[in-house]
Amino acid sequence: MPKYNMLIKSAIFEKSSQRWQDCPDDKIPEYAFIGRSNVGKSSLINAVTNHKGLAKTSQTPGKTQLINHFRINNDWFLTDLPGYGYAKVSKSQRQVFEKLITGYILNRKNLVNLFTLIDIRHTPQKIDLEFLEWCGENGVPFSIIFTKEDKMKPNAAKSNVEKYSQRLLETWEELPPMFITSAEKKTGTDAILDFIEQTNQLLRDNKVGF
Ligand code: GTP
Ligand code: MG
Repeated sequence: MPKYNMLIKSAIFEKSSQRWQDCPDDKIPEYAFIGRSNVGKSSLINAVTNHKGLAKTSQTPGKTQLINHFRINNDWFLTDLPGYGYAKVSKSQRQVFEKLITGYILNRKNLVNLFTLIDIRHTPQKIDLEFLEWCGENGVPFSIIFTKEDKMKPNAAKSNVEKYSQRLLETWEELPPMFITSAEKKTGTDAILDFIEQTNQLLRDNKVGF
């Protein structure tokens, strides 16, 4: 497969939205980052775009509370979403987030791939597996990004990805695209950009509109 090595010529904050209805209406391909609070979504958006401080990050979970759109190369959107499963917010607040996230995923017509981020250090967690199953049931195309690879020895990281794959194959017939990353060391980001560029190209070749 050819390597495109997409260059980031521009990465611009577009808008924060509280509801999917308020999201920008440009009909360009969109890719979103989702996952548990604190998994590293916002950090990885900064690493992938090579723009420090573009997305707001925090050591405290629950930092991103809105749908944040970033316009990349004036060609596609990269979207930062609030994390799911943060135990320390009230039940009603959690329901608000869940509604915001599911409303966005199910209604955003130009969303071509949902990158689900998983902390590579952990054994498969019920909340993530259930979320992926929900994606499958609703026909949402997703990929998996393992984060914080710098916190593990390479062999241990590989072994955890292998265990994760085995667990997924108990439920799924085939594995989704998977990426291993570190926002800290900026590793794995080129592979994500290649994937996005190839998907964009496929959409262009097939004249897919939204
Ligand atoms: P919410 O917006 O609260 O859902 O969190 P988030 O998923 O956007 O996480 P965020 O990017 O804010 O990062 C959470 C914490 O993890 C911060 O302290 C980051 O510095 C740290 N972090 C994120 N990515 C990495 C990584 O690749 N390596 C290491 N070592 N730390 C990371
Ligand atoms: Mg965030």
